[in-house]
Amino acid sequence: MAKITAAITGVGGYAPEYILTNEEISKMVDTSDEWIMTRIGIKERHILREPGMATSDMAVEAILDLFKKTGCKPEEVDMLLWCGVTPDMPFPSTANIISDKLGVKNAFGYDINAGCSSFLYTLATASKFVESGSHKKVVVVGADKMSSIVDYTARNTCPIFGDGAGAALIEPNTDGLGVIDAMLRVDGSGRKYLFQAAGGSLLPATMDTVLKRQHFIFQEGQPVFKAAVSNMSDTTVAMMQKHGLTADTLTWLVPHQANLRIIKACADRANLSMDKVMVNIERYGNTTAGTIPLCLWDYEKKLKIGDNLIIATFGAGFTWGAMYLKWAYDGSTRG
Ligand code: UT7
Repeated sequence: MAKITAAITGVGGYAPEYILTNEEISKMVDTSDEWIMTRIGIKERHILREPGMATSDMAVEAILDLFKKTGCKPEEVDMLLWCGVTPDMPFPSTANIISDKLGVKNAFGYDINAGCSSFLYTLATASKFVESGSHKKVVVVGADKMSSIVDYTARNTCPIFGDGAGAALIEPNTDGLGVIDAMLRVDGSGRKYLFQAAGGSLLPATMDTVLKRQHFIFQEGQPVFKAAVSNMSDTTVAMMQKHGLTADTLTWLVPHQANLRIIKACADRANLSMDKVMVNIERYGNTTAGTIPLCLWDYEKKLKIGDNLIIATFGAGFTWGAMYLKWAYDGSTRG
């Protein structure tokens, strides 16, 4: 019997309507379009402003787009995984809430949080269920309402993040397409550089935690920057070497979108020209679990059967990794 691999057979995406520009951020904190563009490479980000709207609502929109494009029906889904750092609430899981809103009734699902590596970790998890033959239509959705934990008085973090969602359908493949390999890593000693201090069991919400702004993202940028460049580059290069991929045979690098300088450094280390690298950070900022699927969504039309892709991520934890996959469908045929 032919080996079963797990292939992405469709992607969907969603970005909220409201666009927060660098000009607007420059009125909130002491910064400028020039600083943000030069140091990070972000021009604008989408923000979910409507009251009562949460991460699950963006995830639902991305999955509806996925359903529309693939013809998959809610009742056919047998597993649904949400990943990210901004669940609707600590429990029940956001996967539960999304399943209910979509009418996904024949599935099981749960949440995965691996910081900005969430989508990659979750894709790797989903692929194991598909490869084993136990699951046939798995929805992986990366969605984050980062604006719910961004401190808009902190200039070192507020320009970076945006809200958004991206979803992928994972199905079995017997033609050798889909996920070929994944290298995933965690190093908890990096947790002191990027975190949200309060709201968990260590520091439950009190007046004091709110007054100290501990429910917002804390980031020490430089150590995160350095670790992101070295770890994303190292795993990308290691994956290329392991599979004999060169700058000619690798079709696309799909890097986490945290900082254009990190992306360029990574491409440089892998000896790749930037026209082989998916980049959309300028329009979305860092949407955390959303960056990878939103890249695939934006570049879908250019993707062809058999294209060699490496997805590379780095995030809070620290978490990082690289995945090698062979693209499984002709993106230009999707609406
Ligand atoms: O997705 C998860 C992983 N996260 C990342 O990969 C993020 C990694 N880190 C970064 O991308 C960068 O470190 C940042 C974009 C966060 C910061 O850029 P940087 O070049 O590392 O700047 P810095 O933190 O070293 O700060 C340099 C200067 C400081 O001023 P002084 O102390 O030299 O006077 C900051 O106060 O830039 C100042 N600064 C700003 N100035 C204008 C920091 N933020 C801003 C700002 N506008 N928005």
